[in-house]
Parts: sequence; C-alpha cells; structure tokens
Amino acid sequence: MIKLEWTKEHMRVLNRIGESFKRDKVFSGIKIGLCLHLEAKTACLAMTLHEAGARVAIAGSNPLSTKDYAASELSRKGIEVFAKHGESMEEYYESINKVLDIQPDLIIDDGADMSVIAHKRGGLSIRGCAEETTTGVKRLRALEKSGSLLFPAIDVNGASCKHLFDNRFGTGQSAFEGIMLATNMTIAGKHVVVCGFGDVGKGIAEKAKGLGAIVAVTEVDPVRALEAHMEGYMVMPMSAASRIGDIFITATGNTTIIGEDHIKSMKSGVVLANAGHFNVEIDTQALSHYRTERIDENITCYSVDGKKIYLLGDGRLVNLACANGHAIEIMDMSFSLQALAARYLLEAELENRVYKYPYELDTLVANLKLSSLGLTIDELSEEQKKYMESWGEGT
Ligand code: NAI
Repeated sequence: MIKLEWTKEHMRVLNRIGESFKRDKVFSGIKIGLCLHLEAKTACLAMTLHEAGARVAIAGSNPLSTKDYAASELSRKGIEVFAKHGESMEEYYESINKVLDIQPDLIIDDGADMSVIAHKRGGLSIRGCAEETTTGVKRLRALEKSGSLLFPAIDVNGASCKHLFDNRFGTGQSAFEGIMLATNMTIAGKHVVVCGFGDVGKGIAEKAKGLGAIVAVTEVDPVRALEAHMEGYMVMPMSAASRIGDIFITATGNTTIIGEDHIKSMKSGVVLANAGHFNVEIDTQALSHYRTERIDENITCYSVDGKKIYLLGDGRLVNLACANGHAIEIMDMSFSLQALAARYLLEAELENRVYKYPYELDTLVANLKLSSLGLTIDELSEEQKKYMESWGEGT
C-alpha cells in the first residue's frame, strides 16, 4: 500500500499547480465527476480539485484497479466515492451513474465510459470532458465523427507530456511491476511477445529488452513494424509469435489480439497479460470454456488441451490490476495536464468537438517538471530565432 502522503510529496508539479488553484479557488461552485483508476495518485488529483473549491465525485475506471485504502481515505476527506475493488460490472456502471447523478459541470475520464454513459443520458449539463487515454479518445472521436458529441472534449492523451511519458515509460515500467509481482518470475532469457508497437508497446518492449528478454513484436501497421525491426526486435505475425512466446503482453487498444487458435498453439506454462485499456485483447470469453483454477490472487490457470495457460489480472490492465499503476513522477505530469485541462474547459469558448491539448499548457507542464527536477535548459538567442525563421541564410 502506497501512502497518500508519500505520493503527494512526489507529485511536485501537481502540487505547484494545486497551490495556485487553491489560492484562486478556480473551481468554486463547480462540480467535477471523475472516472479514473482510483489509487493514490488519483486521490491526489481529486484532492487538488476539491481544495480548489470543486465538489468532486469519483468512480473507478476499471473494477480491478480501485485501491480500497485510497477510496476510503478520499471519503474521509469529503470526496464522494463510488468505487470498490473487485466490483461487478453491474456495480461498476452503477457507480459511474451515481457520479453523473451529481450533474457534473466537468468530467475527467479514462477510457470514455463516463462520457459514453453521459451521452446515453442526453449529455446532462456537462460543459466539457478531459480524456486520459488512447482508447477513450478513439471513442470520443467516433462520437464526434457521427455528429453525436454533446460536449467539448480535450484529448489529454495527445499532449506530449502525456503519451511520451505515461504511455511509454509509465506502462513500460509498471506492466513489468505487475507481471513480476503477480508471478515472482524472471524476465531474463524469456521470449516476451509484445502485441502492438504504439507508445505503450514501445515502452514495454524497451523494458523487456532491458530486463534481458528476447523480444518479439506483432503489429498491423507496416511503419511501426519496421520501427520495431530497426530497434532490434523480432517482428512476426501472432500465429508465429504464439508458438515461441513465454510471456505475452497485449497493448493495441484493439480486440481479440490473442484468440483461441493462438492460445491452442502456445507452449504449456505461458503467461498472458494485457496492458491495453479494455479486457478484450485476450479472448477471455474463449478461455472461460476451459477448466479454470484460481492459482493466486492475480493468476488464473486455464487447462487448454492438456496445457496450462496462465492469465494475469483477469486480462485487465496488468499494471493496475496487479501493481500500483504508473510511477508517481509519471502521473504527476498526466494529472497536472488533467487539472489544467479542467480549468481550460471552464474558461475557453469551445464547440462540441474533440480538441488537441493546448500547446502552452503542455509546455507549462514540461517546464514545471524540468524545474521540479532541478534541470535547466538553453534558450534560443534572438539571432538563433531569426535564423530559424528565415529562408535565405543557409550559407
Ligand atoms: P497506439 O494506437 O499508439 O498503438 C497501438 C498499436 O497497436 C498501433 O501501432 C496499432 O497498429 C497496433 N495494433 C492494432 N491492432 C493490432 C493487431 N491486431 N495486432 C497487432 N498490433 C495491432 O496506442 P497506445 O497509446 O500505445 O495505447 C495502446 C492501449 O494501451 C490503448 O488501449 C490505451 O488506452 C492503453 N493504455 C494503457 C495504459 C496503461 O496504464 N496500461 C497507459 C496508456 C495507454
């Protein structure tokens, strides 16, 4: 269990932003609904918004990622909490609806479940939404494309200070924390198959390589497949990777990446883990037809044609179901972006569209982060600025 005080101490950028928000009471009279993985870092974000004057209600964004100690700590501090670890899917949706019952002005979402339910309820009185992850942004863009988006949304995932660090370094590290905590196994010398070579897949593949694994990547995008090849990974289709892998980690945001036929061609004893947002990347439906045994809190063994197939965290985000999610310093940036996005949604005049993350706020977070790390960088001189903007002074 990670103490809230410890976490807060290391969220230095969010603390800086929080101090000014608290002083100016920027969310006074505003109701904010959160649907986020409810653990210590999220609790710090919720408290930051609350201390800035907001009424805050929160639901988890995954039934297995809620840490009950963080939930009860938040309740004690006056936040309305509707989440418990291991809740059923029915309870999960009920919790999201309870948050929406407070009629939030703003929502901060991870995966767009709250946004989608708000749409089913006619958009309520929501003035805007800040979306955390790739999968959620994809769903919001689909709503926008169909002309059905009922409030403005900010693509927080698209901010450089989000996807370059959270998706890549955050998931890279925390996915292995989850796998190692759940299994207590070595990674070195194992064949690790990473499905998808986006920011998340890149981070996982890098960490797997660093831990001494032999890494294979599966992709459908030819450019990303080539990038993986140039990084020195084996690249192959899933039908081939399924035969050699010891540990499989999905990170595509897509569905049925590891299907029943792949599972049937795997070796006995393989470990399956998912790092993508929803638990649809590994075909758990197909697995559920085989003999099932719960080996440990986060390991389920399926007996498939006489072979043992181990699934971690029920196929849900392995870094959150089996560990504490991203490192604090990573979420410091992601949640600072979220806090700034919430204020921006209140102040800017926006249409019902999915907006890119504002560049100035992204840069603000990068500068605050550098300063919190005690790092300084060079600035362009006037001469350099002029040179960069000119077209005729190449020689
Ligand atoms: P991305 O869209 O940049 O990358 C996904 C990659 O998967 C793409 O290169 C795509 O071509 C590939 N892909 C799609 N279908 C495939 C298939 N059938 N086989 C092989 N590759 C396939 O997305 P990003 O940002 O890397 O995120 C991936 C997922 O991870 C999303 O669901 C996102 O929401 C989630 N995520 C999870 C985090 C965590 O804490 N575990 C943190 C951040 C994102």
